[in-house]
Amino acid sequence: MLGLALEVRDHAARFGAERAARYLAWRVADRLAGYMPYQGLLLPASRARGRNAFAPNRLVCREVALQELAPYTSDSAYDLSERFLSDARARADCCIGVFAGEKLVSYSFNSRVPTNIDSGFRYEFPEGWVYHFKAFTLPEWRGQGLHSRQMSAILNKFAGLACFKGLTTLVVTTNYASLASFARLYFEPVFRFAIVGKGEKRRVVADGHSFREGFAVAKLGASNGGP
Ligand SMILES: CC(C)(COP(=O)(O)OP(=O)(O)OC[C@H]1O[C@@H](n2cnc3c(N)ncnc32)[C@H](O)[C@@H]1OP(=O)(O)O)[C@@H](O)C(=O)NCCC(=O)NCCS
Repeated sequence: MLGLALEVRDHAARFGAERAARYLAWRVADRLAGYMPYQGLLLPASRARGRNAFAPNRLVCREVALQELAPYTSDSAYDLSERFLSDARARADCCIGVFAGEKLVSYSFNSRVPTNIDSGFRYEFPEGWVYHFKAFTLPEWRGQGLHSRQMSAILNKFAGLACFKGLTTLVVTTNYASLASFARLYFEPVFRFAIVGKGEKRRVVADGHSFREGFAVAKLGASNGGP
């Protein structure tokens, strides 16, 4: 309870009272009934460009081999589990990291194939799109453009592919820091949906116009594969 109160206070200071209230309402609704509202964003290849704007030059941004990440699974500061890394290897994800000297301070993952967004649902998207996800910056390094700084490396990796259509991501609608970061990178908000309910009863709720054609969130194990 105290943790939530501090988070709401932090949101009020950073994003204003209205957004702090929306954050609190979401946390209560999620706790009581299960409610995860998502914004789907796209960055078409034609609009994608690197951004090195305000990150200090002493930082190095590069692709990180997945085996290099193994030591970070035992450090809770990095929010990386062995299970997650094993799934990332199976998908052949590309991880981009930002280093301050030897220290990894920010990272993100990028997948070319459908990817689970949690234990019950998978994000599906057309071939040629790259799902940019699990962006993470160590708390003491946030707000310095480190997430944005990864974009040049991501585009270097994927933009040369003949079939490259662009990047896509999903953000919980109350994750204002993440939305701000993606807005700065010219990602366009394109669809919305929510995963509602608890346990086996969780389901995707989206109105008829919500998903862009070819993009979907499928319940794992469901026979029709669509929301
Ligand atoms: C989302 C996240 C990756 C952004 O990384 P970042 O390197 O801080 O990115 P940016 O520097 O572009 O900052 C983005 C926004 O963070 C917010 N921010 C600024 N300083 C901050 C700080 N000290 N602490 C937290 N958020 C801060 C601001 O809203 C900023 O946008 P603004 O500059 O337009 O005001 C990072 O906040 C994070 O790791 N969050 C926890 C994990 C997460 O939610 N990941 C996203 C999943 S979709």
